[in-house]
Amino acid sequence: MLKNIDWENTINSRRSIRSFEMRPVEEEKMHMLQSFIGGMKMPFRHNVTIRMFKANPNKKLYTAFSSPPDNVAFITTTDNCSIATAGFIGEILILYATSLGLSTCWYGHYLLTELERVMPHLGAYTELENAKWGYGKGEVEGERAICITPLGYWKQEGVRLIDRMQTSFFSHKRKQISELMENDIKEENLPPEILYALDLARKAPSAANRQHWRFTVSSDFKTISIAMPVGYKHIKWEHPNVDIGICASHFWLGLKIKNIDCKVSLREEQGRVVWIFEI
Ligand SMILES: Cc1cc2nc3c(=O)[nH]c(=O)nc-3n(C[C@H](O)[C@H](O)[C@H](O)COP(=O)(O)O)c2cc1C
Repeated sequence: MLKNIDWENTINSRRSIRSFEMRPVEEEKMHMLQSFIGGMKMPFRHNVTIRMFKANPNKKLYTAFSSPPDNVAFITTTDNCSIATAGFIGEILILYATSLGLSTCWYGHYLLTELERVMPHLGAYTELENAKWGYGKGEVEGERAICITPLGYWKQEGVRLIDRMQTSFFSHKRKQISELMENDIKEENLPPEILYALDLARKAPSAANRQHWRFTVSSDFKTISIAMPVGYKHIKWEHPNVDIGICASHFWLGLKIKNIDCKVSLREEQGRVVWIFEI
């Protein structure tokens, strides 16, 4: 599943795009995406499903731009660990789509009523008092679309002021590894393969570019964990564990690129999800 893709280059070139051409993704690429989804093998157990769906550009689904025809939803149960795995798995798909020349944008604050109209998924929970943006917060019964993304082609000319503002406000800047280390290990002492994987991890996208992941490396360099600080709260984003899952997927890809085998696990600890990589 991971072969034949330049993951490093894909991570470096992916950007959130908020202005799309109103044309569908070519059939061939849709097939490639479907077969990639069908063959995705993750290093942990999960219950995430990826659903492609068509949206109506004349109805508001994304707050900041019109939806292109093709879109994807990442659906799972709403406990913290499942939400984190939606981030991990969703990012692998988003990077694969990027490698096919498609543009995307992780989106948590979609309009739920419009999503349900174009992609019914709430079933018995339709009647509940649902949130306006995203599925809401906290653990609820059943499965929800944790995030969605448009899938299409960047409309480069005629970018509206709001899109330009979003792009510069949520900048592509990233923190340095040294700012993200939780214990006393110094960046310059890290084995090159771990440094490489952490460098890809720090480049992950996060809601409002908050980059709230922190890295802990054991003194023998055999165990690396990725989590947000205990007690961390995001001002606007209800599911910051999604972002930690995204970051963990970049780290995992980094180890894979360097041919390092590892055991991947995740658990909830002190109110947040901790990803553990044992080399
Ligand atoms: C989990 C998640 C949720 C996001 N939700 C939104 C959103 O609701 N609206 C939006 O405009 N951008 C959203 N973004 C995009 C981020 O603002 C963007 O990833 C970040 O600013 C970094 O920019 P980059 O993706 O271009 O590297 C989200 C990103 C992530 C990872």
